[in-house]
Amino acid sequence: MYMMNNFQQQIIQGIPDVLPNTQAYNTKINHAPKRKDILSEDEKKLALKNALRYFDAKHHAVLLPEFKSELETYGRIYMYRFRPDYDMYARPIDEYPGTSLQTKSIMHMIQNNLNPVVAQHPHELITYGGNGAVFQNWAQYLLVMKYLAEMTDEQTLIMYSGHPLGIFPSNKNAPRVVVTNGMMIPNYSKQDDWEKFNALGVTQYGQMTAGSYMYIGPQGIVHGTTITVLNAGRKIAKHNENLSGKLFLTSGLGGMSGAQPKAGNIAGCITVCAEVNLKAVQTRHSQGWVDEVISDLDELVIRVQKAKETKETVSIAYHGNIVSVWEKFDTENIFVDLGSDQTSLHNPWAGGYYPVDISYEDANNMMVDQPEVFKEKVQASLRRQAEAINKHTSKGTYFFDYGNAFLLEASRAGADIMADNGIDFKYASYVQDIMGPMCFDYGFGPFRWVCTSADPADLVKTDSIACEILEKMMKDSPIEIKQQMSDNIQWIKGAQENKLVVGSQARILYADAEGRIKIAQAFNKAIADGKILAPVVLGRDHHDVSGTDSPYRETANIYDGSQFTADMAIHNVIGDSFRGATWVSIHNGGGVGWGEVINGGFGMVLDGTKEAEQRLKSMLFWDVNNGIARRSWARNDEAIFAIKRAMEAEPNLTVTLPNMVNDKLLENIFKA
Ligand SMILES: NC(=O)c1ccc[n+]([C@@H]2O[C@H](COP(=O)([O-])OP(=O)(O)OC[C@H]3O[C@@H](n4cnc5c(N)ncnc54)[C@H](O)[C@@H]3O)[C@@H](O)[C@H]2O)c1
Repeated sequence: MYMMNNFQQQIIQGIPDVLPNTQAYNTKINHAPKRKDILSEDEKKLALKNALRYFDAKHHAVLLPEFKSELETYGRIYMYRFRPDYDMYARPIDEYPGTSLQTKSIMHMIQNNLNPVVAQHPHELITYGGNGAVFQNWAQYLLVMKYLAEMTDEQTLIMYSGHPLGIFPSNKNAPRVVVTNGMMIPNYSKQDDWEKFNALGVTQYGQMTAGSYMYIGPQGIVHGTTITVLNAGRKIAKHNENLSGKLFLTSGLGGMSGAQPKAGNIAGCITVCAEVNLKAVQTRHSQGWVDEVISDLDELVIRVQKAKETKETVSIAYHGNIVSVWEKFDTENIFVDLGSDQTSLHNPWAGGYYPVDISYEDANNMMVDQPEVFKEKVQASLRRQAEAINKHTSKGTYFFDYGNAFLLEASRAGADIMADNGIDFKYASYVQDIMGPMCFDYGFGPFRWVCTSADPADLVKTDSIACEILEKMMKDSPIEIKQQMSDNIQWIKGAQENKLVVGSQARILYADAEGRIKIAQAFNKAIADGKILAPVVLGRDHHDVSGTDSPYRETANIYDGSQFTADMAIHNVIGDSFRGATWVSIHNGGGVGWGEVINGGFGMVLDGTKEAEQRLKSMLFWDVNNGIARRSWARNDEAIFAIKRAMEAEPNLTVTLPNMVNDKLLENIFKA
């Protein structure tokens, strides 16, 4: 008879009937900062009542004071006592209880998002970005895992911002899980609304791949960052030279930003990355994602001068504030070739950005005890940072916004960051200059897959399958996309050597619709043939051609006014869900902040069946071409080229194409 082990029994049990012991607060773990004390007394009562809904009334007398204390101490009720005592990591799929390969794959993905080597604040169920939550509390986690273990392929689990509403009857072609995160009535989408409604326990910030279970560690962003740095290098190259001996200055060694030094190394430049949080510095250094750590500015100057002289490829973490580095490099005349910033400015008042000249600890206290003073300090620091950056750019530095709302928040702080027309920013975002026209408009985006066998040998097989397919495709690629194809082939060839895996056996690979479909088909066949041992999960970052409507990031290179609409992201998720996605998710907030973006994504389990083959063709084609069609309607030349190519390849596709207006005609009518 099949005997369940302790882990499996705990999953099936869900929320335990006997209260587990309380757990000591582990100070060695990177914890979420204390959240703002924003609730009135009545609202606190409501938050407690909401939290206790998960538990039998017999436990309320014990849990009430405990949850009250969590709310007062941390600003949220995480239900720490219920964090399971088993190790949290993506297990091989056959270790999960249940009958559905699809739901077991989702359990694999969820556990990866909460794995302490992957997640930023694992005990607060935050995967990255300071507030990117998988669940709001441990009761939700326990219930979801239990539901996934019990479900069949004729049911769908409905997730409301971390809360499992229930399992509803559906059918085997429907998604197994439908996720919404942070969806608000539009007027209630300000930063403080998140603080309040999250503290009440009725919504959460899902970031992009946190609340959608699709995070694959910093690897996901290394690839995108490598492409960005490489292409930024091509933009500044005077004689087609590479990035050797050139300096890239940026900040942040957190969940996503931690990828920058590694990407800088792959791109072959000198990277200096400032980070105020010592734990984050140590984590990335111990993982080998950054080569050296320096905490003295004079020492940093000498080290960078030496690296420039010898044209050394090296990444250096500066433990301290980024503002100080920009200022020091200005006074010391260190020329910065490429500059950016990846502090968490989507979340400026609650730990996303640390103001200069205040210690990390003092800043953490100030943001809770004196939020108004803290806000002033952040804004003053942003003004100083912008001023120093302006000095560098006047000497020739190419600065780009890295999708962290730096320019947006700096402008709100009154920094000298606006262009002469008073509407645009002085500097382009990486999507306007690089990612939009070079990648998204052609359909290239952060496709990814995860081997649920958890076996590194499976990942090696998928890498070589993907490489073979891209090399074949490259032979007939039009000139417009040859550079992309060759960058991606180079990436996949170096992927094993660059040791990118942290957590699950996952790979990211920028690919267009054709590439994604062909690679997925080949994986499905390899599973059917028994060459790959277990199902493969397909997915992508929401930060993609179609996934995200975000006027200051993903859709920053849309210029017909529609960058402030969110039809594309919503259609993407609805369309994916009836074309065969295993799970879909739609989020408010992610990257640039709550209320500033709507983004969505999918997960698709390939199990080697004919049904999987049909689903992948139908869904991946839509998932990419929806965005290209929209970008083409916005008159983006690259997207018009790509959608015409898609129509030639697929006779069932008819996309409305824009007619171009002669600008002179338009100008003249206003002159007349
Ligand atoms: N460009 C992209 O493709 C992309 C992708 C994902 C995320 N982002 C955005 O980038 C930002 C960073 O994401 P993350 O996941 O790394 O967030 P994170 O919160 O994990 O990391 C940000 C880090 O910046 C540090 N920091 C804050 N202020 C600082 C300062 N003044 N000087 C030095 N260090 C400072 C913090 O201590 C933190 O470790 C977010 O706004 C995110 O939305 C961009």
